[in-house]
Amino acid sequence: MTERKKVTLPTLFNKVGQGEAITMLTCYDYPTGYLQEQAGIDMILVGDSLGMTMLGYESTLPVTMDDMIRHAQAVRRGSPNAWLIGDMPYMSYQPSVETAIRNAGRFMAEAGCDAIKLEGGVEMADRLAGIVRAGIPAMGHLGLTPQSASALGGFRVQGKGALQAKKIVEDARALEEAGAYAILLEMVPDRLAQLITQRAKNAFIISLGSGPHAHGQLLIYHDMFGLYPRFKPKMAKVFGEAGKVILDGLQTYVREVTNRTFPQPENWFGMQDEEYQELLRLLD
Ligand code: KIV
Repeated sequence: MTERKKVTLPTLFNKVGQGEAITMLTCYDYPTGYLQEQAGIDMILVGDSLGMTMLGYESTLPVTMDDMIRHAQAVRRGSPNAWLIGDMPYMSYQPSVETAIRNAGRFMAEAGCDAIKLEGGVEMADRLAGIVRAGIPAMGHLGLTPQSASALGGFRVQGKGALQAKKIVEDARALEEAGAYAILLEMVPDRLAQLITQRAKNAFIISLGSGPHAHGQLLIYHDMFGLYPRFKPKMAKVFGEAGKVILDGLQTYVREVTNRTFPQPENWFGMQDEEYQELLRLLD
């Protein structure tokens, strides 16, 4: 395994300072964590999107803290050096500042995360501030925030109109003032993301479907490899058809088992003649 230096907050802010783009992906399991570590991904988000990509739910809402911790632990085992972010699931931070701090602490203590992420702007700024005061780096998430999809009218671009865009700019400022080290902008127009990026002073901005001007980019791993069967969002570029490769392999397996061309001698274990004869004798 290739060793690289642990990614820290100074590493990330140095990249930003030097104008280098930060790379970020979602990840939910050990083998993918291992591959992302090898590829040198800076930041890994164990997103509550795992409810859809890994567990097959229709939304992220049924995901629990225990689900998140189990997956974050696995990713950490595969990727010891990436900046690992635990995504706070639905109702793990909304009820109170204390709930937020306790659950953020679980990501750090039980899964070895480096930081957490939560959704929401002004309304959630006190939760984020409490987490930061507890010594836990926190990332904000604005624009399309899937946990509020029902209130937002579905999975659609946010901030296309000036009034809604102004609210997102104010939300970003509130999160920065609350101590967020980074803010994710999901599905907002490119010019709005550019404006927020230019105004950011103490936090860096990551884009998911929000254009090229942010300090870094995030994609959902399953979207970039054709691994999510229900739909492919416009913002996701497919970097490899892993889903097709795996399906092809599965169909070949079915064919070979059916026509008895699998397994071959290299796929099984033999027994010495004399041991076999002795076995038959013992069974007589
Ligand atoms: O859960 C997740 O993967 C996320 C992304 C949609 C940003 O929050």
